[in-house]
Amino acid sequence: MDDQPRVVVLTGAGISAESGISTFRDAGGLWEGHDVMEVASPEGWAKNPELVLDFYNQRRRQLREVEPNAAHRALVRLEPHYETVIITQNVDDLHERAGSSRIIHLHGELKKVRSTADPGLVYHWEGDLHLGDTCEKGSQLRPHIVWFGEDVPEMYRAAEEMARADYVLIIGTSMQVYPAAGLVAYAPRDARIWYIDPKPRINYELQMMPHVTVVEARATEGVPRVVDELIAMAGKE
Ligand code: APR
Repeated sequence: MDDQPRVVVLTGAGISAESGISTFRDAGGLWEGHDVMEVASPEGWAKNPELVLDFYNQRRRQLREVEPNAAHRALVRLEPHYETVIITQNVDDLHERAGSSRIIHLHGELKKVRSTADPGLVYHWEGDLHLGDTCEKGSQLRPHIVWFGEDVPEMYRAAEEMARADYVLIIGTSMQVYPAAGLVAYAPRDARIWYIDPKPRINYELQMMPHVTVVEARATEGVPRVVDELIAMAGKE
């Protein structure tokens, strides 16, 4: 299997938009009514942990009401033909539920929580999280989410995967939030890249790559199309 060509996929909020999860920077986005720094920063957590927990409890509850869409499902079809790795900025579990096998969550996961005293203590969590819910060492639990200003520990693994890509798909991300938005710079120069987004924003790193095809389309339309193209190419190799 190791000699299969390799597809690395970077997804953002746009891939889950048609499942009913709002994106961050489009009108009517997730942050509406909330200052981002209030709900997604260490400072916000220190100031009002209850508000932060409530915000993520709502996000976690919403997962029960949404389903993977045709774009999440199309990516699973790559697996018999390509070594496929998904690097997602999303904290939802829609890639998992669609059936993808290798997923790196750059910005954490709604269905995990961790100890505030020992970041190595991470737990699976389905319901609401409250003040007073503690880890086995007795410290408050917090959402397992990378907040603004925090390290992105999975960046190293993601960059390594990107460095070995033959093909790269970038789906539904505004390419504004670093370090994730800079990951494409780790791809080999000869990698072929597709960027699928109805409002693509070509950042500096993408501009520097020589083989970029921009597909100006919604994920449920553009992703199955590009996946079909990749599968047809695999058949000819
Ligand atoms: N299909 C594909 N893309 C879409 C769709 C759709 N149906 N609808 C919207 N989009 C695109 C938008 O055009 C935009 O480029 O999704 C992108 C969403 O951008 P953002 O809201 O900025 O989300 P993302 O790039 O994932 O944000 C990155 O920022 O707030 C932080 O940690 C958070 O992971 C997040 C990170």
